[in-house]
Amino acid sequence: MKVGVVGKGGVGKTTVSALLTGAYVRRGANVVAIDTDSNPNLGLSLGLTLDETEAIPVLPRSVLVGAGGDVTADELITEYGRTTPSGATLLSAIRVTEAGAGCTCAGHGTVRTLLGQALGEHADVTLVDMEAGLEHLSRAGGTLAYADALLVVMEPSRKSVLTAARTAALAEELGIPRVYGLGNKARLPDDAAFFEQAATDHNLPLAGVIPSDPRLAQADRDGVSVARAPVEPVREAIDRVVDFLQQEAKVA
Ligand SMILES: Nc1ncnc2c1ncn2[C@@H]1O[C@H](COP(=O)(O)OP(=O)(O)O)[C@@H](O)[C@H]1O
Ligand SMILES: [Mg+2]
Repeated sequence: MKVGVVGKGGVGKTTVSALLTGAYVRRGANVVAIDTDSNPNLGLSLGLTLDETEAIPVLPRSVLVGAGGDVTADELITEYGRTTPSGATLLSAIRVTEAGAGCTCAGHGTVRTLLGQALGEHADVTLVDMEAGLEHLSRAGGTLAYADALLVVMEPSRKSVLTAARTAALAEELGIPRVYGLGNKARLPDDAAFFEQAATDHNLPLAGVIPSDPRLAQADRDGVSVARAPVEPVREAIDRVVDFLQQEAKVA
């Protein structure tokens, strides 16, 4: 199962990726988490220190992964993957260290071909924390072309919903079989209804709604892993999302 986590900047993609990673690990899955943000910080949410996160070697660019390619998925994960306190293996695909460093497309290209391979023995579940922005979902070389499912994270704001709708349209063009909305930071009693309405309006089945919890933001500020010990009711909500995804995968 290969899941891409996408959405507008700041909606909670990295947080949700880390929470899902933790949930899958608790269920006994081998998880590979891939950070494609040019400002990578998924490592922090998976329990690495800043130094450890920054020391992760970035995947080689424009590499063709696979039996007939430059490198096998096995080799790539062994060489570039780092074990995190969450229990998942983390790959870092992109890092922009210089101003004007140019397009990150080549890094995305590597992730695309990696996802095209069977990661079976390394990963029962592969989660890709995508950088905000829609360019890497476009038809020409979409990073997530080989994803099985896409979670489009929204917060309770109209703009994030509009971004989600545009994202879902691109994902459909890209041929990703299953595309879902995921409401995050739900606070007001109306927020769940807001997400349900947005899902209906934009024909985007809702994978779940994650409540807003100040302890998540605090963990983020403190540089503490959110994967390890999410507290109720976030943990329950995330578990329901995992159940949902597993159910949907069975139906497909
Ligand atoms: N459910 C939530 N409740 C409270 N704060 C959240 C929640 N989800 C994310 N946040 C906070 O929102 C901010 C942005 O989250 P982040 O995961 O970095 O977003 P993105 O990866 O989409 O840019 C962080 O400070 C994070 O702690
Ligand atoms: Mg992020």
